Amino acid sequence: MDTVLDVDDRDERPSRPRRLRKRYLARYFFRPQRPVSWLNPLQLAGTGVQVFLAERLGAYLDKRELQGLFPQPLFDHSSAGGGGGLWFDFVADTGDGFNATYAVARLMARESLPVKGNPLLPRGEFIVMGGDQVYPTPSSVAYENRLRGPWRAALPEPGPVGSTEPDPSWPRLYALPGNHDWYDGLTAFFRVFAGAESRLGRWISGQQRSYFAIRLPGDWWLFAIDAQRGAHLDDPQLTYFHTLIREHVADGDKIIMCVPEPGWVQSKTSDDAYDSIDYFLGRVVSEGGQRVWLARNGGGEPKSVTVPLMISGDWHHYSRYESVDREGGTRQLITAGGGGAYLYGTHRLPLSGTVPPQMMQQPKTPSATYRLKKRFPGFLTSVWLGIGALWRVPLRNGAFVALLGVLQATLFYALVGRSVSFTVTPSVLLIVLAFVGLCGFFSAGLSAEKRWIRILLLTAIHAAAQISIGVFGVRYWFDLLNQGLDRVRASTLAPWAQDALVWLLTPSRDLAPHLLLYAVVAGIVSAVVVAVYLFVASLVNVNFNELFAGQRIEGYKNFLRLHIDKAGTLTVYAIGLRRVRRLGPGWFRWQWRIRRKAGLADGWFEPRGRAHRPHLIEKVVIPATAGAKPTDGTPEVGAAIARAG
Ligand SMILES: [Fe+2]
Repeated sequence: MDTVLDVDDRDERPSRPRRLRKRYLARYFFRPQRPVSWLNPLQLAGTGVQVFLAERLGAYLDKRELQGLFPQPLFDHSSAGGGGGLWFDFVADTGDGFNATYAVARLMARESLPVKGNPLLPRGEFIVMGGDQVYPTPSSVAYENRLRGPWRAALPEPGPVGSTEPDPSWPRLYALPGNHDWYDGLTAFFRVFAGAESRLGRWISGQQRSYFAIRLPGDWWLFAIDAQRGAHLDDPQLTYFHTLIREHVADGDKIIMCVPEPGWVQSKTSDDAYDSIDYFLGRVVSEGGQRVWLARNGGGEPKSVTVPLMISGDWHHYSRYESVDREGGTRQLITAGGGGAYLYGTHRLPLSGTVPPQMMQQPKTPSATYRLKKRFPGFLTSVWLGIGALWRVPLRNGAFVALLGVLQATLFYALVGRSVSFTVTPSVLLIVLAFVGLCGFFSAGLSAEKRWIRILLLTAIHAAAQISIGVFGVRYWFDLLNQGLDRVRASTLAPWAQDALVWLLTPSRDLAPHLLLYAVVAGIVSAVVVAVYLFVASLVNVNFNELFAGQRIEGYKNFLRLHIDKAGTLTVYAIGLRRVRRLGPGWFRWQWRIRRKAGLADGWFEPRGRAHRPHLIEKVVIPATAGAKPTDGTPEVGAAIARAG
């Protein structure tokens, strides 16, 4: 047990925080962050530019070939755990707002996790982070404040930051980059996860590359591939896995594949979403693919292996599909992106499907059907949370509401005085075009799916609704004010209050105060219209992501705790956490307090109010003999990927 912290000991560089003030924390530790405000106008424009640049310049930023210069050892956890078997964890999409990121890290840091109706689940000997470790864009500062700080606070070193030599008993950390880590070509990612002193508190990282393989007990392996937003898999990466299979993998071994995106479900709407996975299974893991590589690289016998489990983050919820291939082999396909970022709904998840999608299948392409077995949050909860956009979008996006208010006030100003004839002047035309352009950007620029007819229709309806607010405003605003004036005059308010309200509501006064008042009211109405639009659009798969990103729901988090026992049976415990903060404002100091009388190595903060209550979403048991066998390589898909790269 570590020594108990003396709260009166005031040395220069404290081992752990003694106060909750943000300036104090920022000086010695890190600056706790609020969740990214995706609808903030600057963020909105920035996201559009980022997505554009990442799509256009991704190939220039790609440094994966260079990673081949860095030697990467085989990470071996096969003898860990002793008689009790090995425990390890998976979490993805961390590094957003403090409340959710720290709440999840805190659960994962506990030596054992109490989950109702189950024995205590011991902390994992290592964690695999499955992508999107930081939001919205990667930089050393963003990683520090959004990821490293909260995670260090959950499992701190027993001394000032960076002053303690790592202990061999400390848990390990492996990280796979997601699209948000990739926006700077992995520069900051490598500083955080592959530097000489890479650690998040007591979680120690040792990787040199953005992909890795881990040997597990019971003839299990974990392969994590870096597919850089669906681009081709680079040669050094393929060689790394080919060589590993030739030299270390044995016949009958089983592989857990960690991939940056759940291509099995994304392929339902994006034809090439499964390409990277399919290519890797066909070219590297299947016996046919191995045979081709071995023939060119010194010979050897291919190994017969299976891939019974694939795990991904990227979508911020929990879902599990079970796929059955033509030979009857099963594969569990799990999306667990609940490490910290905003909740992404589950009610539009397909109930079943085929990978690769039918239209992409060549005559020789093997296919598998998959069926949805579990989701968290559940269908009805997800629908209800989607409807919640009606109040969460206006309440949680002040800057967005302000922008809408300014736009509406401009439209009002352009229309006022023309309310009888509605003459189309150049200024009216310009502002109407601006509305159409912005609604178009919202539908087309942000939505992942490019269904142009739907997008054009939705843009037209949305723009018409927004412009109608201005038209109705000009028609009825002054009437409403007059009614308000009558009520104020008839009220029993103090004379000075009546005078103030009369001054504010008098239509004959200067237009400026009216515009301000109008901007506030119309901004809120306009935001509600955006929310209604988002909900309607999401029903036809447009702006589904924005429906949830705009709500910034911090709850409904998840992560996986996995166990391999002596017999080689793999059990996946999917852990859920519905609520990460108490009701009321999300301010740091309202939600958390310093843990007093805690050990030096204990977490720094604890929630004010009710303790966090994790629950078991489901438990999936994969027997030692299970698994779907990857079928032979698919040259057609490979060629398509080569062209895309
Ligand atoms: Fe994400």
